Amino acid sequence: MANSPQKLLLTGAAGFLGQALLKKFHAHYDMAAVINRTEIDDPPDGVEIVRTDLSEKKAVNELVRTQEPDIIVNTAAWVDVDGCESDRKRALKSNFSIVENLINAIKDSRIYFIQLSTDYIFNGVDHPANVDDGPAPLNYYGRTKLMAEEYITDNYARYLIARTCALFGMPNRGQTNLINYFYDSLKAGKEVQAPEDMYANPIWVENLAELLLEAIQKGYKGMLHLGGKDYLSRYEFARIFARIFGFDKDLVKPIAAIYHKRPARRPRYAGLNVEQTHEKLDIPLLSADEALSAIHDRMK
Ligand SMILES: NC(=O)c1ccc[n+]([C@@H]2O[C@H](COP(=O)([O-])OP(=O)(O)OC[C@H]3O[C@@H](n4cnc5c(N)ncnc54)[C@H](OP(=O)(O)O)[C@@H]3O)[C@@H](O)[C@H]2O)c1
Repeated sequence: MANSPQKLLLTGAAGFLGQALLKKFHAHYDMAAVINRTEIDDPPDGVEIVRTDLSEKKAVNELVRTQEPDIIVNTAAWVDVDGCESDRKRALKSNFSIVENLINAIKDSRIYFIQLSTDYIFNGVDHPANVDDGPAPLNYYGRTKLMAEEYITDNYARYLIARTCALFGMPNRGQTNLINYFYDSLKAGKEVQAPEDMYANPIWVENLAELLLEAIQKGYKGMLHLGGKDYLSRYEFARIFARIFGFDKDLVKPIAAIYHKRPARRPRYAGLNVEQTHEKLDIPLLSADEALSAIHDRMK
């Protein structure tokens, strides 16, 4: 008789990454998807949807008790970097308390816990971050994500912290992101301004979902950097987008990041060194060209 699939509890399941993970993972696991206020676009058959505010300790204890997961993948967070700067209470609740509650709920178990983290725990002064670099967040979002990392490493053993950076892909229904902004603007013949002094290795959300699936199936523990293959500026990324989608590249205008006046500071050389990741995982990290071409093909 075949073994029954493991039970995987996915939080933040209606989010940008959450919905991509749900699509990729549901064929491999018995899944429960935790949502808060936002609904999932088209939940796959057989996935149980559970509405829980994960910042509520009692609700998290009850969730873990009733679901009895083998694996928890926590993507729930508040990723509005400027919002986190001005509403620090909400940032702490969303990015730290959720993790604190989950870890306390599972501390005596053997549940495999996967936390999504960010390159913004580093200062990105002069290079993309190595796995062992010392953290030094420039903004409050990064600080709260770092607090979550530290809580996990101090209090739980069976974890994987997957740091990622600059996700891109087609947005979920009713959402706006860089991809549909570039598409709509360039299609209308409008200029797009993109910083030429902010670097990262952007990763296609579907590539990230495949990589995470492989890492989880291999039971990989510790820290893992999951970024795209190419390290490039926002300006270079926008130019590649224009070329692949057949728009006029000259509509993409370079701008200095300083002109994007924002409440939260951002690292200049953000992103993640992914050399070790190439060695650990078989799924290839895609280049911006490869990923954007795949997105373009889908839209044809
Ligand atoms: N997006 C990026 O470029 C990027 C880069 C680096 C790292 N990451 C990390 O990747 C992860 C996923 O990011 P994302 O872009 O997919 O974020 P997202 O689209 O904003 O999704 C986050 C989800 O978390 C849920 N959530 C927030 N507070 C909650 C609560 N109290 N209880 C239950 N659910 C709650 C939200 O649900 P509601 O909206 O319904 O409250 C939302 O669906 C995060 O950990 C983030 O730090 C993202």
